[in-house]
Amino acid sequence: MEFDYIYLDEAASTNSEALKLANFTDKPTFIVAKKQTNGRGRIDRFWVDPFGNFSGSILIKIDEDLQTLALRSFVTAVSVFDAIDEKIGNEHALTIKWPNDILLNGKKICGILLETKKLRHVTALVIGIGINLLSTPKLSEAHEITTEPGSIFDETGIKLDPLNFSELIAHHYVLRENQFRTMGFSKIREIWMSRAAKLGAKITARTPVFEYQGKFDSIDEKGQLIIINNGEKKKIAAAEIFFK
Ligand code: BTN
Repeated sequence: MEFDYIYLDEAASTNSEALKLANFTDKPTFIVAKKQTNGRGRIDRFWVDPFGNFSGSILIKIDEDLQTLALRSFVTAVSVFDAIDEKIGNEHALTIKWPNDILLNGKKICGILLETKKLRHVTALVIGIGINLLSTPKLSEAHEITTEPGSIFDETGIKLDPLNFSELIAHHYVLRENQFRTMGFSKIREIWMSRAAKLGAKITARTPVFEYQGKFDSIDEKGQLIIINNGEKKKIAAAEIFFK
């Protein structure tokens, strides 16, 4: 798999650009913007994106069911982890918070947002990646913050160039995507688990309709979070996770 690259000085959201582009190209494409003015986060949030941070979206077309497509959430988290790890070295505490946030010293430095668009014969998958390379965004107080934000520069003093970084992410993404296609989810799952934040610790999973507390046991073959409370296993497909 080889990527075309599109570099933009500014975009409202690289995910929106990639979803539009899906009608016009079949080539895997990486759209990167120096600045985003209306970045989207998960759960209808804004993604605050100061200049110098990384905002990019991978567009690929895949003929798979939505559940398999969604596992790219883990494939991407593992790939972006690989890219960051390669640049900052392993003396820093880099972990992944379920499902796909990347934490550095416990602070969120990367968020990933998957969106899809059904086309006639295939589905366009857009994988939006936001990485706080340079600065830690100030978040609005309107949101409850699940994890304090940080940036790679603030945590390590290492400055990374956003445009060059897209090629490194693409390089690792292609390796992990191939691994996923040849070996299935089990290998990605194993690597994801070895990097998971708070595995075995008490966590809280919350949605507008439920809240569960328990020991973070594992993720299953669909990427669902498994929490154990009083010997009872709960499988959670989507929730906000709090480390308390
Ligand atoms: C999250 O809430 O953790 C996910 C944030 C994803 C942000 C990225 S930045 C590039 C791409 N374009 C968007 O509008 N969002 C994603």
